[in-house]
This record gives sequence, structure tokens and C-alpha cells, in this order.
Amino acid sequence: MSATTPTRAGAAVRVAGLGVRLPDRVVTNDDLAKVMDTSDEWIRSRTGIRQRHVAAPGEATSDLAAAAARAALDDGGFEVADVAAIVVATTTPDHTVPGTAPLVAARLGSQAAAFDINAACSGFLYGLRLAAGMTATGDGAVLVIGAETLTRIVDPGDRSVAVLFGDGAGAVVLVPDDAASFGPFSLGADGTQPSMLWTAAGGTRRPFDAVVLEEGSHYLTMRGGDVYRNAVARMAQASREVLEQAGLKVSDVDLFIGHQANVRILDAVASRLGLAPERNHVSVDRHGNTSAASIPLALADARDQGRLHDGDTVLLAAFGAGLTWGAGLLSWKGAS
Ligand code: ACO
Repeated sequence: MSATTPTRAGAAVRVAGLGVRLPDRVVTNDDLAKVMDTSDEWIRSRTGIRQRHVAAPGEATSDLAAAAARAALDDGGFEVADVAAIVVATTTPDHTVPGTAPLVAARLGSQAAAFDINAACSGFLYGLRLAAGMTATGDGAVLVIGAETLTRIVDPGDRSVAVLFGDGAGAVVLVPDDAASFGPFSLGADGTQPSMLWTAAGGTRRPFDAVVLEEGSHYLTMRGGDVYRNAVARMAQASREVLEQAGLKVSDVDLFIGHQANVRILDAVASRLGLAPERNHVSVDRHGNTSAASIPLALADARDQGRLHDGDTVLLAAFGAGLTWGAGLLSWKGAS
């Protein structure tokens, strides 16, 4: 088991803009039950998901990312010229080459540094940690975007995964602020069991060909039970680590924003931590699992519901393919 990577506490950084983009088309569980052998009851009882947004034909990750970024800039009253770097966390890039971030930058009219990170469902948390370091050490404002079109890499006929995922994007603008506290973060990875959650083919290990197409081995597959157990254990552990590093108790957490994969996973993490259920924010019921986009989407959802206030201690936690995981704390002093 690999050691996690703790980072120093309390960078002088804050979220100064927050924006999202969800595709217009909403697919309910009943819609899925018309095209595959499933039911609203099965999906809701196993996952808590009621509906998800699905990208339109031709709508790609960069389209959602650029719209969320634009919304975050507008939210904070920024011009694109204010942004020193653009980080896109995604596991569903528009292309293998080039990265998605330069495409997003071009859409925004920026020639700032722009690069992708792929830490699957933990990608936004990894991106926040990276961008906070850049912001705190002099780069100024950095855009961090989590954006995915997961529905493009699942077999639409495979009920064991097709019901779980949705598309969307969320973005934040991080800025330096001497009075703010952002962190600590604890990030970790264990690549010894990649097949727990992966696309077996279509990369350089096994390039796409007619056999791959026939097998459908370019689609996402997972061992659901193993993912479930690891997600609960890793998110709870990373959360404990950051609370301990910060010298906080779980009762100090005003809001828990976990990666929105499944309500049962979120409830289990909250229960292990001893977190009051009302502090566990849930948006997976309306978004499905949007991987790297899920945390910024949930943050914006919480803000829309009036659940984020200046000074609140927010605990973030994520787990995803890799395996990757992490947690982070921030004292909310943000766009409101
Ligand atoms: N509708 C109806 N029946 C289904 C469906 C479906 N959509 N999918 C599977 N089933 C069936 C199975 O075929 C199986 O039938 P059988 O008993 O006749 O063989 C039965 O339901 C039970 O299947 P299980 O896999 O045991 O169901 P389980 O209760 O474990 O729930 C689930 C499956 C929801 C995937 C669960 O394992 C889970 O939540 N895992 C976490 C996975 C996850 O969230 N992944 C997202 C990506 S990773 C991340 O973001 C962290």
C-alpha cells in the first residue's frame, strides 16, 4: 500500500469564481429502463442516482469545460487576461493529442499556460492542489476545470456501468489571498490494480483495432464491489489525515463535498468519519457520476442551495481510477 502525500497546511489562496455547465439533455432512470434491462428502483436503491445530463452529439469535453470556465470568470468578475494558467482535469479528453486545456484556452481567447491532468475522479482535487501551489507561489489567478463526457466511453448497452455516469463541467478561479486558508491536502495513488476500473484497450498498451471494436474492450469496465470498498476506505482515511494535519475535529467540518459517485459511498464515508448526515452534500442524484467534474458541480450546487458561507470549513474528498484518491480542506471565502 503506497504512502499518501501530505502537503503543507493553509496556502494563502481562495476560490474567487465558480461556474458550471451541464448539458441540456436530461436522461432519467425511466428513460434508461426503456432501452436496457434496468429500473428506476434498482438504480436509485443502489446508487441514489435519479437522472444525469448527457452531452449532445458533437458536444465534447472542451465545450463543457469552456462554458464552465467562462461562467467561473464571470462569477468572479475576471477577464480572461487575468488568468495565468488553465488546468483541465479530465479522463475523457477531446483527443489523445493535443490536450483539452489548450483547446479550452483558445475558446476563451487565452494563450496562458494550459495543460491537462488525468487522475480520473480525483482529478479536480489533484488540480486544486497543483493550482493552489502555483497561485501561492506567484503565478496569480489560475483556472481549474473538471470536465467530462463519461457517457462517451461507456458501453450504452452495459447496464452495470451505463446507468452510473453523466456529463458536465465545473470550474473555479483560484487567487492569492493572504487572509485565506486553503489546504492541507492529502493525495495518494496505487497503480497496482488498474483493471479495477479502466478501459482495457484503445491506448498504447493495446491500440484500437477491429478486434478491440468487436470485443468492446475500449469501453469502461469496473469491479463495482472492489471500487466501492476502496472508495469508502480511501476517502475516509484521506479525510482523517487532513483533519489531523489541520488540528481539526470532524465536528469542525461545516460541509463535506465528496466525489459524487454514489450516495451509499458518500453515506458510508460520512458514517466512518462520524460526520453529521446533514453536512454531507449530495448532488449525484441529479448529476450521476461526472468523475473529475463532480466536486465543482457539487460545490456550485451547495452554493446555489445557500449551504456555503464565508468562514465555513469545507472538506473535499475523492477517489477514482488509478487508483487515485485524496482529501483537502478549505476555509470558504469565495464567490458567493
Ligand atoms: N439494473 C438492474 N440490475 C443490474 C444493473 C442495473 N443497472 N446493474 C447490475 N445489475 C444486476 C447484476 O447483473 C446482478 O445481477 P445477478 O445477481 O443476477 O448477477 C445484480 O444486479 C447485483 O449486482 P451487483 O454488482 O452485486 O450490485 P451491487 O449492489 O454491488 O451494486 C454498484 C452495483 C452500484 C455498481 C456498486 O457495486 C457500486 O456502487 N460500486 C461502486 C462503483 C462506482 O460508483 N463506480 C463509479 C466509478 S468509480 C468512482 O467514481 C469512485
